[in-house]
Amino acid sequence: MEKHKNGLYQASYINGKLREKQRFDITFGSNRGETYLYWKGNEIYELPVTYYLYLHQWANSPGYKGGAVKFDRVMGKRCFECHSSYIENLPGSSGFIGQNERFEKKSMILNIDCERCHGPAANHVAFQTNNPEEKKPMYITSISSLSRAQRIDLCGQCHAGNTGLMFRSIFDFKPGDRMKDFKDNGDNAHNANFKKKDHGKIDVHGNQAGLLASSKCFIEGKIECATCHNVHDEITNLSTYSQRCTTCHSEEKHNFCKMAVQLGQSINNHCIDCHMPVESSNAIVIHGAGNRTIPAFQAHIHRIAIYPGESKKVINWLKNNRITS
Ligand code: HEC
Ligand code: HEC
Ligand code: HEC
Ligand code: HEC
Ligand code: HEC
Ligand code: HEC
Repeated sequence: MEKHKNGLYQASYINGKLREKQRFDITFGSNRGETYLYWKGNEIYELPVTYYLYLHQWANSPGYKGGAVKFDRVMGKRCFECHSSYIENLPGSSGFIGQNERFEKKSMILNIDCERCHGPAANHVAFQTNNPEEKKPMYITSISSLSRAQRIDLCGQCHAGNTGLMFRSIFDFKPGDRMKDFKDNGDNAHNANFKKKDHGKIDVHGNQAGLLASSKCFIEGKIECATCHNVHDEITNLSTYSQRCTTCHSEEKHNFCKMAVQLGQSINNHCIDCHMPVESSNAIVIHGAGNRTIPAFQAHIHRIAIYPGESKKVINWLKNNRITS
């Protein structure tokens, strides 16, 4: 790592001799870790070293093997579809096999902005600015008017994993659109080769949408992302999330947890620990020396279910900490 007048760099040396040095130009992530990209002409590449929050350390970036320092992992528009708000390919350079994608630098809009979730809003802004007395929102889709499936797909653009065959860019996705018009998970008859690979599996690219949809709370209940998450607000602590469960599951409704007798009051703060336990992902692993791999990413599994092994651990933890008898 080096600091120069015009920025921070990752550099590689062999026998004290500089081999390659590239600047931290773009950052992806923050939540689980950060990975960094650099511009080389009109192309974008990943820097060799990533910071992993869960491991609290720097290590080689996903896609780079241990043992040698390389700067050659090409980044495509697809990464930007979920990790930024916009980027455009230069004409005739959308990345066919054997060709790297080239980008229009000025088109890049970093971060996830309002329009990624609320759709194009220029007319809305113009109208409300010119008509300040008008309190009714015009030229903007009201998210509460959408169906649950449409709202899940709004988040699922980016939170339904990264397998499946894309046949349209999600930069075109607007609230109300359905993912089946963008991505083929193998459901469509014309692509029988594509298997439902990541359905039900955890991976770094989340797949919270697919996992939640496989829960009984979803199939038999009305649960959706907004039941637990307010994307405009900071994420709350785990016991606050547990309170979301008790809006549907309670003693009065006779669908409460069978463990309630054993756990007493403490149960109310720990629904998540037992029913949405933390799992490691194999999608982001650090390739160490030889064939050694280290999982570098953990997330709460979004299939709400009974996990007997995890429950045992939580019960022991509660006992050891004298939270329950
Ligand atoms: C389908 C959308 C999607 C695509 C495509 C995608 N990502 Fe992600 N990525 C996500 C989401 C969502 C997360 C956060 C996952 C979570 O917290 O559950 C994430 C997480 C990450 C992380 C972990 C750091 C963090 O905390 O956010 C890295 C690094 C990353 N992505 C890099 C990439 C790179 C490089 C590409 C292209 C090769 C890529 N992603 C393509 C959606 C995507
Ligand atoms: C990650 C997706 C996402 C982003 C980014 C986002 N919003 Fe939202 N916004 C939502 C969702 C989902 C709702 C509906 C909330 C609910 O039902 O609980 C909402 C609701 C709203 C509402 C209330 C009206 C309505 O449709 O329910 C306003 C106003 C709003 N957002 C403005 C903004 C602004 C301004 C920004 C940018 C600073 C922004 N949002 C960024 C997802 C997003
Ligand atoms: C355009 C892509 C995109 C859309 C649409 C999107 N997200 Fe995300 N979301 C991300 C990425 C990327 C991350 C990881 C952020 C990071 O690590 O910096 C993320 C992170 C999150 C997190 C973890 C935040 C944290 O601080 O731990 C939650 C929760 C979340 N998203 C919920 C939602 C919900 C709910 C919706 C739908 C209303 C939604 N997202 C829509 C891309 C998206
Ligand atoms: C919107 C309502 C709703 C919410 C919120 C909700 N559930 Fe459910 N849940 C249901 C329904 C409906 C069922 C299926 C009927 C039943 O078993 O009671 C169910 C089933 C379950 C089951 C049985 C699963 C199985 O595979 O047998 C568990 C465990 C569960 N929920 C735990 C939770 C936990 C923990 C939370 C919070 C993280 C939660 N639920 C939030 C509605 C909900
Ligand atoms: C029953 C409650 C519940 C529902 C419904 C729910 N989540 Fe979560 N989500 C959680 C909890 C609990 C966490 C862990 C928060 C923490 O560790 O601070 C979480 C974390 C996340 C994260 C951060 C990565 C991780 O796993 O720690 C993302 C991204 C996310 N949720 C997206 C979504 C999306 C998208 C949906 C809808 C498809 C959704 N969630 C529905 C409870 C829920
Ligand atoms: C210490 C772990 C643990 C905690 C904490 C916990 N549960 Fe459970 N839960 C279990 C186990 C184990 C079962 C299966 C019990 C059985 O079938 O005998 C279960 C079963 C359930 C069921 C299915 C009941 C049925 O009739 O089949 C629901 C619903 C449920 N839990 C909801 C919750 C909610 C809501 C919370 C928080 C208020 C919670 N659980 C907290 C471990 C836990």
